[in-house]
Amino acid sequence: MRKTIYTDPSIQSSEITPEPVFLNRRHLMKSAGGLASAAIASSMAPAKASTEALVYAPAGDRSLEDQLTPFKAVTSYNNFYEFGTDKDDPARYAESMTIDPWSVKVGGLVNQPGQLHLEDLLTGFDLEERIYRFRCVEAWSMVVPWVGFPLSDLLRRFEPKSEGRFVEFKTLYRRSEMRGTRSFTGVIDWPYVEGLRLDEAMHPLAFIAVGLYGKTLPHQNGAPVRLVVPWKYGFKSIKSIVEINVTEAQPRTSWQTLQPAEYGFYANVNPDVDHPRWSQGFERKLPSSVFRPNRVRTLPFNGYADQVADLYAGMDLRRDY
Ligand code: MTE
Repeated sequence: MRKTIYTDPSIQSSEITPEPVFLNRRHLMKSAGGLASAAIASSMAPAKASTEALVYAPAGDRSLEDQLTPFKAVTSYNNFYEFGTDKDDPARYAESMTIDPWSVKVGGLVNQPGQLHLEDLLTGFDLEERIYRFRCVEAWSMVVPWVGFPLSDLLRRFEPKSEGRFVEFKTLYRRSEMRGTRSFTGVIDWPYVEGLRLDEAMHPLAFIAVGLYGKTLPHQNGAPVRLVVPWKYGFKSIKSIVEINVTEAQPRTSWQTLQPAEYGFYANVNPDVDHPRWSQGFERKLPSSVFRPNRVRTLPFNGYADQVADLYAGMDLRRDY
C-alpha cells in the first residue's frame, strides 16, 4: 500500500543538534498513528531528497538512545571512496550522484531473480527504526538511528537456493558522477564489492538502511540503500547498492583485493586482533577532538557478541579476521 507522508521542510540536513528534532519527529509519528509501511513523500517533496521524512514503526534497540551521535557528525565524517579518501569528501561531493531513478538487481543462486525499483523497495517492506553501534576499522565509532528493514526480508523475497552460501553486494559505479573513481583508478577495482556468508546475511541484526534520523539517507551515507552490519567493521556496510548476488563461492571483496594482509573477509570487530598499523582495542566515539578524545574500550563483535558469536563457533577468528 502506498502512503503519502508529511514532510517538514524546516528540517535541514545542516542541523547541528538534531536530537530534539528527532524526538519531536517521533512524537509526530506517534500522533499520526505509528504507521508501519512507508514511502517517500512525493506530492509535498521538498528540494533535497535527504530532508524528506520516512514513516516507520519506532521499533527495537532503544537501549542506546541516550548515546546517539549527533546528526552533524554522522553526516560529515564519512568513508565513501567513490567520492575521495578524505573524511569530508563524501559530504562535499556525493550530492553529484543521481539517486532517482534507482533500482537494485538481485540474482545468482535465487529462484526468483529480478530487479526492484526503489519505490517498490520502500513500499514492499515495513520500515522500522533501529539504533545500532557502528565501528570503523580506523577506530572511530558512532551510534546511529537507522531506518530500514532486515536484509533477510529482502533476500527471502528472491528465494535463495539451497546451494547458495554467500551474498555479494555491489555499489553503483558511475565515473561521470563519482570523482573518486576517476582520480583513484587503480586503488580500488570499481565497483566497490562486499560480501557476507548467507547465514550472516539472514541474521536479524543485518539491516538494509534507507534512512537515518527519520529522514532519507544523505548521499554521503550511501543513499538511497546501504547495508548496516552492526557487529562488523564499517567497511562491510556497503553503500549505494545496485546489485546483490547469492553465490556458492566466497565473493572477493574490494578491501581484500586492495590490502589482503590488512582486511579479511569476515571483518568481525575483534579488539584482540590489531590492524597491522594500529590497535583495535579502543575507539573514539564521535564527535571527538584532541581535547575531548572520547576514547572507549572496544567490545568483541562491537557489543553484539550475545547475538552473533554462535555464527562463528569453531572458527579461529585470528586467522579468519
Ligand atoms: N561503501 C562504498 N561503496 N564505498 C566506500 O568507500 N566505505 C566503507 C563503508 N561502505 C565505503 C562503503 C567504510 S570503510 C565505512 S567505515 C563505512 O562505509 C562508513 O559509513 P558512514 O560514512 O555512513 O559512516
